[in-house]
Amino acid sequence: MATVIDGKEVAGSVIEAVKTASELLQKETGVQTGLAVVIVGNDPASHAYVSSKSKMAKECGFTSVQHTLPEETTQEELAALVQTLNADPSLHGILVQLPLPKHLNSEPIIQSVLPEKDVDGLHVVNAGKLATGDLEGGLVSCTPAGSMVFVRRVHGEDLSGLNAVVIGRSTLFGKPMGQLLLAANATVTIAHSRTKDLASVCRNADILVAAVGRAEMVKADWVKPGATVIDVGINRIAAPEKGEGKSRMVGDVAFAECADVAGVITPVPGGVGPMTIAMLMANTVIAAYRKAGRKAPKF
Ligand SMILES: NC(=O)c1ccc[n+]([C@@H]2O[C@H](COP(=O)([O-])OP(=O)(O)OC[C@H]3O[C@@H](n4cnc5c(N)ncnc54)[C@H](OP(=O)(O)O)[C@@H]3O)[C@@H](O)[C@H]2O)c1
Repeated sequence: MATVIDGKEVAGSVIEAVKTASELLQKETGVQTGLAVVIVGNDPASHAYVSSKSKMAKECGFTSVQHTLPEETTQEELAALVQTLNADPSLHGILVQLPLPKHLNSEPIIQSVLPEKDVDGLHVVNAGKLATGDLEGGLVSCTPAGSMVFVRRVHGEDLSGLNAVVIGRSTLFGKPMGQLLLAANATVTIAHSRTKDLASVCRNADILVAAVGRAEMVKADWVKPGATVIDVGINRIAAPEKGEGKSRMVGDVAFAECADVAGVITPVPGGVGPMTIAMLMANTVIAAYRKAGRKAPKF
């Protein structure tokens, strides 16, 4: 049976380190770390994410500002708010909760956030820094950054000689995850929907990362014995055992059968999920240190 990573515990340790770093920055420079979270519209899931982000920011000792805009907000109004937040020296991070309502175009909004305040790591400048191996200068997208914390805890900083396979090539996850693994010297394959014989590609992986969005797609015979399996997927499936119409959350990995083969595995829920918000806090305090001219902590 594989060792199961407790994502809540690891995320808790990151949050403790963020708190310590933000307290130290305030003590030594008088700077209080500031995060602005912007939400547009009424999507209940987005509201739940945003309130947990704002709450966590307060727990970390940050100034936390939340802007809740109505569904009918125009592109120009949202763009104007981002400009105001960009210009506010007390704010070190700006997060615009995605997805935006359908009438808004998210890409120009994402690209209008100052790269040094882009704590979601979605700006092309930050993507470019990651792609060129500049891990010290940019901000890395939160979910891949959190997944790398797990990888480092299992394998250390240097992945020389290890094969890593990432299933999924999205801008949000698959591509940056591949870049991070490559920067740590792994030999990286990024697989996707056009990959031939995915199972045999995966069987070659010492580190297998699944970010697809297909419930329990990765089976036990896709996993190399002893491999580290990181499950990023979030899928809801019917759970009639919990009552009529009920559902439960599962990942992209068939957990029970893969746990018999893997060396280390992350569960869903309670694996990668809690790390995303922890790394958002980490990116915000990193941005505050840089703004204050201090060497940023590592998480
Ligand atoms: N906080 C978190 O824990 C967190 C954060 C981000 C994402 N997620 C979850 O991670 C999953 C992926 O997210 P995403 O944003 O990267 O999704 P996405 O943009 O939909 O990308 C999915 C990727 O999976 C590939 N794919 C689809 N079907 C496939 C198949 N049968 N075989 C191999 N590859 C296949 C796609 O290939 P093509 O490019 O060829 O279409 C694409 O590259 C989702 O379940 C999402 O909810 C979780």
